[in-house]
Parts: sequence; structure tokens; C-alpha cells
Amino acid sequence: MYPTISVAPTRPVAAYLGGKRNLAKRLCAIIDGHEHRNYVEPFVGMGGIFLRRSRRPTAEVINDLSGDVANLFRVVRRHYQPFIDEMDGLHACRAEFDRQMQLDPAALTDIERAVRFLYLQRLAFGGKVHGRTFGVSRGVGSRFNVARLRADLRALSQRLESVIIEQLDYAAILRRYDARETLFYLDPPYEGTEGYGIEFGPDEYRRLAEMLAGIAGDFIMSINDTPLVREAFARFAIEEVSTTWTVAQTAGKKVTELIIRNRRR
Ligand SMILES: C[S@@+](CC[C@H](N)C(=O)[O-])C[C@H]1O[C@@H](n2cnc3c(N)ncnc32)[C@H](O)[C@@H]1O
Repeated sequence: MYPTISVAPTRPVAAYLGGKRNLAKRLCAIIDGHEHRNYVEPFVGMGGIFLRRSRRPTAEVINDLSGDVANLFRVVRRHYQPFIDEMDGLHACRAEFDRQMQLDPAALTDIERAVRFLYLQRLAFGGKVHGRTFGVSRGVGSRFNVARLRADLRALSQRLESVIIEQLDYAAILRRYDARETLFYLDPPYEGTEGYGIEFGPDEYRRLAEMLAGIAGDFIMSINDTPLVREAFARFAIEEVSTTWTVAQTAGKKVTELIIRNRRR
């Protein structure tokens, strides 16, 4: 048995396209019941699974190719106070949302970039990452409550204390961290859904399946149920699960998703 440490589950600091709110309980139970020494998430996004775990192993790695995502986690961990001070001056306002949208992330400091990303992400309709619009709903209050945000960010900065944060293509992460004791939890962009500003075409699922077939460690993947996905991952154990997609605060349609794994142990 590998040692694990209990941690306080926290929630993602912003909504995110493909965030795993509805499946989180189920996926965390599967992950926690799976023995591993190293936990690696190649597509972490806002951390809908990573943050909701209640136990953690010795080593944890989170990764996302998005510079905004990796930068936010790094800034929250290393520059928590100056970041909070910058966030404190903001409130939900369409004019400020539009102004932040116009800024070029590449021309900002790391802290400014993290502020921009979190502000937009917190306020964007449906947790969209690309093509964001100012999200308001009748009868729903502002989603930018600084006191609540401060508490979420404090919990996040503590949770990230000993976590390795990477910003690489998933293939490089699989190569770098694969080992017999490693468990990868993968939540790639859903097939047919665009919106991260990063290309992830049909061939990418086949490339991912090929790589996963050759790893020494274990993996658990959540993905939408499509013919292409079923074909690409046919060699692994595929389980159907029912869930509900949520867009912003409104309940969405019921769908079937897949949990795919290589059962080695
Ligand atoms: C479905 S989302 C993950 C959502 C996450 N589980 C959550 O709870 O927020 C997929 C993520 O994969 C990232 N991504 C897309 N292509 C990638 C690649 N080639 N390598 C690593 N990350 C990638 C996107 O930036 C996005 O954050």
C-alpha cells in the first residue's frame, strides 16, 4: 500500500468548459480507490477533479497546455498576496469585462495575466474559454464576490503547495511521468467540442490511445460518447455513465459519457 495524505477538498476557482462538477464524486471515488504513488493530470483545466479529491499520494503533477491555466496556478501558489490585492479592486461590470477582453495576455505581467484570466473566467457565460461573453442571468446575483473568491484562492494556494505545475503537450507529460506506480487521470477536450483555443482534432484521440496502450502506469479517462472515441479506445475497458451537462447555472441535457481505463491491477 502506498501512503496517502488526507486533504481538504476545495472547489475550482472558476467555471470552466468541460469542468467535471457532475461526475466529480464518482470519478474521485474511482481514483481514490485505485492504488498509486504518483498522480498526474495531463489536462487539468480548472482542476474539477484534482481539487475535489480528499486524499493525495506522495507526488502530484498537474498540467495544461494553456498558458493562462498554468500561469494562474503558478501565480496563486507563488504570488498569492499581490494577486489577491489586484483582484480586490475589481467588481462585476460589463465595461471592465470588455476592457480585460481587449488586453493581450502576452503583453501582461504574470500577475496581470492571472487577474485577467480569472476575472474573465469567473464572469464568462458557461465557463467558456474562447469567444467569451459577459454572463448574466435574470434572478441570479453577481458571480464575482470578492470575499468568496478570496476564500477559494486561499484554499487553492494551500492545496498547490507541493504540487508540480507543468505546461506541456499531454504526450510529453505521459512520457515524462510514466512509471508503474503512476495513475494518470485524463480529461481531454471532448470530441467535437471546440472552445479552448487549442486544436484537438480526430487524430489526436488515436494518438492518445496509442500512447496509453504503451504506458507502464494506469490511467482513467473521462470523455464524451462518440463513435470515434469508442473506436479509438476499443482496446480498453469502457464504462458508460449518465450525467447532466450544465451551462452556467442552468441544468442542461442528460447525456452518456464514458470512463475508460486500462485495468492492470
Ligand atoms: C475538458 S478540459 C479539462 C477540464 C478539467 N477536468 C476541469 O475540471 O476543469 C480539457 C483541457 O485540455 C487542455 N488541452 C487541450 N489540448 C491539450 C494538449 N495537447 N495537451 C495538454 N492539455 C491540452 C485545454 O486547455 C483544457 O484545459
